Amino acid sequence: MDDAPFDADHVAANREHWNANADDWVASGERNWARAEPVWGIWGVPESELGMLPADMTGMDAVELGCGTGYVSAWMARRGATVTGIDASERQLATARRLAAEHRVPLTLVHGNAEATPFADASFDFAVSEYGAAIWCDPQVWIREAHRLLRPGGRLVFLGNHPLTTVCSPWDGSAMVRELIRPYFGMHATDWREVEVDPGGVEFNLPISDWFRLFRQVGFAVEDYLEPRPGDDAEGVAFYASADWARNWPCEQVWKLRKPAG
Ligand SMILES: C[S@@+](CC[C@H](N)C(=O)[O-])C[C@H]1O[C@@H](n2cnc3c(N)ncnc32)[C@H](O)[C@@H]1O
Repeated sequence: MDDAPFDADHVAANREHWNANADDWVASGERNWARAEPVWGIWGVPESELGMLPADMTGMDAVELGCGTGYVSAWMARRGATVTGIDASERQLATARRLAAEHRVPLTLVHGNAEATPFADASFDFAVSEYGAAIWCDPQVWIREAHRLLRPGGRLVFLGNHPLTTVCSPWDGSAMVRELIRPYFGMHATDWREVEVDPGGVEFNLPISDWFRLFRQVGFAVEDYLEPRPGDDAEGVAFYASADWARNWPCEQVWKLRKPAG
């Protein structure tokens, strides 16, 4: 196999991380494939609250950047889109391929790097990422790549963790606290490979003003920015956040962008 697309240090590290952990994501992938209506992020916020996807995607070409087990791709295909999912982890893609076959949902699933995809310029109407490229790819690279892939008038929608979660994460990798630990300004890559608690891969985020500047430089118009909150019935800890923390401060963000029509 040609490994060149995965050469960058963070891309190789994240591919290895996701290949090593793919088994842990099979059950949630199966649950999400079985859902008729999408729910999003670590708290399962309903699509009716966030409006991530067009209600009718008939005739649209859509791409999911970092598709994992492929359930977001499936939701788009069921709305009528012709869908391509790309992911760096061959083991995550194996789950996606199995579930696509079991659910009889036609998807094109590609093993590749969302920062440097093999797709032609202007080949999609809609691009999406939920905790895929949204957090595992370098924004300075993948946002430009998503812009290249979209047709004029096309939209990019993505959801990931909020920059405040990085600020409130202790250096040892333990769960978020109610204190400002890490610097907000200058935020870019956070390397979780060597932390004591629950080591992971390399994640990315930016200060909100830097996200805005990047979108402007690349040529995206911002249509909306959301800070999803857990529902009243949420409790306990989901991944990196407690329900109590997330009710008081934003732990996730959604950006909705449009490539101007011309
Ligand atoms: C959390 S999953 C996202 C899928 C799904 N929405 C979810 O939340 O489970 C993250 C995915 O991003 C993929 N990923 C990480 N870096 C990537 C890259 N450079 N290019 C493509 N996919 C990447 C991983 O392999 C993994 O399958």
